Amino acid sequence: MKITSDPARVIELRDVVKTYAGRVPVHALQPVNLLVGKGESVAIVGPSGSGKSTLLNILGLLDTPTRGAYFLEGVDVTAADEVTRGAVRGQKFGFVFQSFHLLPHRTVAENVELAMMYARIPAVERRERTQNALETLGLIHRREADPRELSGGERQRTAIARAICLNPEVLFCDEPTGNLDSHNTGIVMDILADLHENGQTIVLVTHNLELAKLMRRTVSVRDGMVSERVNS
Ligand SMILES: Nc1ncnc2c1ncn2[C@@H]1O[C@H](COP(=O)(O)OP(=O)(O)OP(=O)(O)O)[C@@H](O)[C@H]1O
Ligand SMILES: [Mg+2]
Repeated sequence: MKITSDPARVIELRDVVKTYAGRVPVHALQPVNLLVGKGESVAIVGPSGSGKSTLLNILGLLDTPTRGAYFLEGVDVTAADEVTRGAVRGQKFGFVFQSFHLLPHRTVAENVELAMMYARIPAVERRERTQNALETLGLIHRREADPRELSGGERQRTAIARAICLNPEVLFCDEPTGNLDSHNTGIVMDILADLHENGQTIVLVTHNLELAKLMRRTVSVRDGMVSERVNS
């Protein structure tokens, strides 16, 4: 069979089920069908424990479905090994988490640059992208700071700078405003809205319905079942 890739269908889940094994198995996702098209933005909302992070982790190839299939740009990669999955994550995906995952004892600029080093982006290019991202995110004046000296909003913006410097095909965020006050929430919302307007494909989990509305589609998860609508 000839395999033709389809870059417009960035991620597609077909009948994906996730059950966490254990003494009492947790059926975290019931069969889920979901398509993320290129340039689309999707907000995943729902109560605590409903399966949002589980869904995001599966979409981001950080976790594997128990059943069902995962198509990347039209190609079935459900059975791909961890090396391949890691390579896809590194080349195509960017991640921003609620807890930031920034390295202490490194400056803001170094945190942003390090991810590009792993991606083997040349030094001159790294510095240029870092400069641009820190300017865009209003962090230039804090470029030499240790993340431990930053406010929550500055940390989150650093994590976003680090992710977008890699020009990811898809930007995944799990509660990007979860730890922020309303002022910093507003700043991060503006940044995500701009990224979306500029054609960045975004999948984010949020409890913030205002942020969800800025995305093109909202996927609601309840007891592991999804329903979705297009935002007006
Ligand atoms: N590693 C795991 N092992 C077992 N059960 C898990 C695991 N991770 C999540 N779960 C369970 O799966 C269900 C879905 O969890 P998930 O983390 O996806 O929820 P969530 O919607 O992201 O919640 P929150 O809004 O609190 O972050 C929950 O019942 C949770 O307890
Ligand atoms: Mg979660």
